[in-house]
Amino acid sequence: MVVVSGSNSGPMAEQLATTLGWEHHVLETRRFPDTEGYIRVPSEVIEAIRSEPVVLVSNTFPDSGIVETLLMLDAIQDVRSGELKNLREIGPQTLPDVGKGVILAIPYFGYSRQDKRFKPGESISARAIADVMASRCDGIVVLDLHAPAVLQDLSVPVAFISAMPELANHLKETVDPDFILSPDKGAIDRASSVANQIGCEFSYLEKTRIDAHTIVHKAKDLDVAGKSVAIVDDMIATGGTICRAAEALRSQGAVQVHAACCHGLFTGGAIARLLRYVDGVHATGSLPNARDVISGGPALARGVHDILQQLGLKS
Ligand code: R5P
Repeated sequence: MVVVSGSNSGPMAEQLATTLGWEHHVLETRRFPDTEGYIRVPSEVIEAIRSEPVVLVSNTFPDSGIVETLLMLDAIQDVRSGELKNLREIGPQTLPDVGKGVILAIPYFGYSRQDKRFKPGESISARAIADVMASRCDGIVVLDLHAPAVLQDLSVPVAFISAMPELANHLKETVDPDFILSPDKGAIDRASSVANQIGCEFSYLEKTRIDAHTIVHKAKDLDVAGKSVAIVDDMIATGGTICRAAEALRSQGAVQVHAACCHGLFTGGAIARLLRYVDGVHATGSLPNARDVISGGPALARGVHDILQQLGLKS
């Protein structure tokens, strides 16, 4: 079987291919002078894509990732259905359809922010993007989606998988924390699973977001004096959530504070800001970032096996 990627998820695709023991091929992606994208399945990859199920690893972030993902799925579907007609008449023009077997693995699902309609007329963008992707593939794997409910009941099976087991292993080996803190209620499930796996204490904070850059936590007594603490969240964007949580921990005597997440967006100088508050920042490479130290390959592989099983294809 084969893993392919375009321009935004090469390292994650490589980690997935290594975990599965499959080949990894890179599709041709470039831009026309007016910035429109060009996609091509290279001739030497056509046979590999037709011979077995194929996993495309691609982010729907930033916006250009949505278009690129869509065009890559389209090209892969044409290759698998044997639709190879081209004006230069290179190679066979048609081949037999090889059937189902295109899985889209999305390390970071962009456009997941608007997952509900709060006012009439709003686009539920997470669902809109997911529906478009589902129309071009046979199954989708999504890594640590903040709120999976919006992608329930798509037209193809979806596997929601998490890198928290690998994040827990990494923290145990490098930090060996005494205490895991969830910085808000939304991260409780993820962070508590990390605490359970490590076998350490756990608590959470209650957060109110005033605006994109202003976070307030409700005061809470945390038993962290003299302890090493890791704050675990699904994503870090501006770093505001983590910085405020780290302040609460330091003020209550924590001696070491680390921040760990799946998705390191790290917007607007977030890493420099974070390092004024924490001793270390740990993330997967779901998005390219300078703190990519946790492999996302095993988590994506769990999702791929799940989808292959649901489709009745061998894995
Ligand atoms: C939101 O609930 C998420 O889980 C994160 O806590 C949030 O996106 C982090 O954003 P920032 O780093 O900007 O505080």
